[in-house]
Amino acid sequence: MMHETLIKLIKDNIAVNNLPDVEWLLSYINSDCKHGDPILLSIGENWSDVPFELNQLLIKAPSYTHGYLLSMYGLPRLRTILRDYIIKTHNLLDFNECDFEVGVSWTGTRSAMFDYGRYLIEKTQHFGNTTPLVLATIPGWDYSGIFEPLGYKMRYLHLYPELGFEPSFTEFEDVVQSINRSPNENLAVIIINAQHNPTGVNWNLTFVREVIKKGLSIGANFLIDDAYYSIHDPGIKVTSTLKILLEEFMEKPKYSIKCNWMAVRSLGKQFSCNGWSLGAITAKSETLKILVNKFRVQHQFNCLGMLQYAMADWLENSVSEEYTIQQCNAYQQKKICVKNLITSIYASPNEKYYIGECTSYVLFSIPKIYSKQGKGVSKFIHDCFFHTGVMFSSVMPSSRNVKSPMKLDYVRMFIGVDLTILQEAFKRMKLAGITYDMPEILDSV
Ligand SMILES: Cc1ncc(COP(=O)(O)O)c(C=O)c1O
Repeated sequence: MMHETLIKLIKDNIAVNNLPDVEWLLSYINSDCKHGDPILLSIGENWSDVPFELNQLLIKAPSYTHGYLLSMYGLPRLRTILRDYIIKTHNLLDFNECDFEVGVSWTGTRSAMFDYGRYLIEKTQHFGNTTPLVLATIPGWDYSGIFEPLGYKMRYLHLYPELGFEPSFTEFEDVVQSINRSPNENLAVIIINAQHNPTGVNWNLTFVREVIKKGLSIGANFLIDDAYYSIHDPGIKVTSTLKILLEEFMEKPKYSIKCNWMAVRSLGKQFSCNGWSLGAITAKSETLKILVNKFRVQHQFNCLGMLQYAMADWLENSVSEEYTIQQCNAYQQKKICVKNLITSIYASPNEKYYIGECTSYVLFSIPKIYSKQGKGVSKFIHDCFFHTGVMFSSVMPSSRNVKSPMKLDYVRMFIGVDLTILQEAFKRMKLAGITYDMPEILDSV
């Protein structure tokens, strides 16, 4: 039961974090889960799906893996396996002449991004005292939480439902031009999250290539976030930003020397083990060397070797490949069913939800009546939860109280739980009278 897991994770005599969700969950659990076990579709986690075989591998880890590991690149065995894995899955066999190296991240790719932000500040000598800007998308993952505390400011490309949440190269060019006209600003980092959280859009290859070409020509740096690279509908052509970047370097080697870049690939989503915090960091060999030996060692030693050892075994075993295929098939099946639930039970018009081809998320619009309210999205998430026990999240989830720079009346729904749970969620919503066209907002509780 979810509430039993949640009690272990959030019940404490201090506020365990800043998320309002946690307060709501505790209050719901304390009043005996009135509408049934909480159904958490807000954060991308279910705490129950780590593959059995991967879990079993943990106990095989030899004793040396419990000490500090000496290589700051990661356990050598996992690092080399991961390097081959990146080459294989991004189809990089023909890129021997390109300068790139792969390291392990063992405390989340988020922390690798923080190190990269610090690395860039030092490498560019504070961007010549201009304000460094980070270009990301809205909606999008919380990159501002990493970069703003370092002194960067955010700029956004807007993803509109009417345009199928596809990013626009015209808008990108406009943003670049406006930054160029501003003498005190500098386009410091372009973030490319081509399997996009939260929209589930697999970004168009041409768009990604054009952004990279333009970015290289103006001396921008890149952060490639491949957190969902392996979570996509079977049969689609997944855009590999890493490969496109290396292709551009092959074509114009001078950029390979000038450009700073880092690509991260979290393994937590692909293998349902977010808490293991493992992933790959790919960068130019000199960049990686400085990242791991200077910036990373400022806040961590190489540890969690038992997880790294088990992950090495897992990646070497064909079961991991079968698991990935199974996951992709299951997500596709669930998306078909969820689409049906959204249109038939929630009665959403066709243009008011979005089911992409990658990631574990689906977006749908809040009821029309909530859109008319000032705080429509957060009020809807709150009311829906207290009337059903089902929790969705905003499309810009963050544990800080940040005001979204774009009004978008959508919520994000995590679909990495059993289909029966998703069906139950919609059943409860129906029972509470929650549909796209509901005439009144729900009573306050
Ligand atoms: C788009 C995206 N990037 C990066 C991450 C960070 O993953 P981790 O730090 O666990 O590697 C997440 C996690 O939710 C994510 O959704």
